[in-house]
Amino acid sequence: MIPHSKVVLEEEDLAGVIGVLRSGQLAQGRVVSSLEEKSASLIGVNHAVAVSSGSAALHLSLLSLGVGEGSEVIMPSYVCTALLNAVHYVGATPVLADIDPNTYNITRENVEKVITDKTKAIIVPHMFGLPADIDAILSLGIPGIEDCAHSIGATVNGRKAGSFGLVSILSFYATKMLGAGEGGMVLSNDRGLIESIRDLRAYDERETYTVRYNYKLTDIQAAVVVSQLNKLSAFIEKRKEIAALYNHGLKRVGVRLPVVPEEREHIYYRYVILLENSPEFMKEMRKRGIECRRPVFKPLHRYLSLPGYPITDEVWEKAVSIPIYPSLTAEEAHRIVDAIMAIL
Ligand SMILES: Cc1ncc(COP(=O)(O)O)c(C=O)c1O
Repeated sequence: MIPHSKVVLEEEDLAGVIGVLRSGQLAQGRVVSSLEEKSASLIGVNHAVAVSSGSAALHLSLLSLGVGEGSEVIMPSYVCTALLNAVHYVGATPVLADIDPNTYNITRENVEKVITDKTKAIIVPHMFGLPADIDAILSLGIPGIEDCAHSIGATVNGRKAGSFGLVSILSFYATKMLGAGEGGMVLSNDRGLIESIRDLRAYDERETYTVRYNYKLTDIQAAVVVSQLNKLSAFIEKRKEIAALYNHGLKRVGVRLPVVPEEREHIYYRYVILLENSPEFMKEMRKRGIECRRPVFKPLHRYLSLPGYPITDEVWEKAVSIPIYPSLTAEEAHRIVDAIMAIL
């Protein structure tokens, strides 16, 4: 079976982890600090705070922006429930926006429709590694959290995704661009926001009491990400090569592919195709030894029983994510194209 996603762990990654284990400093320490510096420098912002997951990063970002009860937070419907959870953690109200059928991201137009005088923030994910129209969305003037869980290394006009928002977040979940099992990062140029996030991340040995969290990353996890960061460009190149092979192979069959605007760089965290009868297609692929997935399990408006997200519904019904990761071989990629051609 060709799995849908696969962790890439090489000898040098293991050596980094063994080094940490031998050092005896397992919890947050100098490797976490080093990862924070490297992440800030990669994205091109001044500060970064490592946390235990992308969800924790979203939670602390919302708290640092003063989002709470009575506030509304805009996000796409076509995204995982981590965003919905984070907004509920702080007692705020999620407000969903529909997406662009070509990039699967929220658009300025759809965001504008749902702004009210209670809107306090917007979470903008760059879905599947293809950046959203971030400048246009942020020009609406709402404090923006850029969600780069899928898009570490992607660029817009040559500038890294994650450097546009007031705050941005990363996820280091096992199957993400950089995978440490679990982990996350908050980034910002705003020192005040970053200091409040640093304060909330850990609870021990404080002069004054306020509710704080244990959202720390360990040096063990950080060692994996630090090691993989050195290979991020190579990972992205490999993903792009596979995507080019798929683009070429699939242009003769009737699948819809995302449209990548010229100024945006798609890093292909996921390769998503749209086709009729996607559940049947996935079954057929499985019969041929290829695991495919719905790239978003269920849109948020369906969990919340809200009507009125026609593009999200269409994309969700038709979208299939086919395997793409740096260790996928050319032979496997050809097998995948051949299977798609045979089924369609
Ligand atoms: C767009 C997006 N944001 C945030 C998260 C949450 O990340 P984590 O799983 O590290 O909590 C995910 C998780 O997959 C995600 O897809």
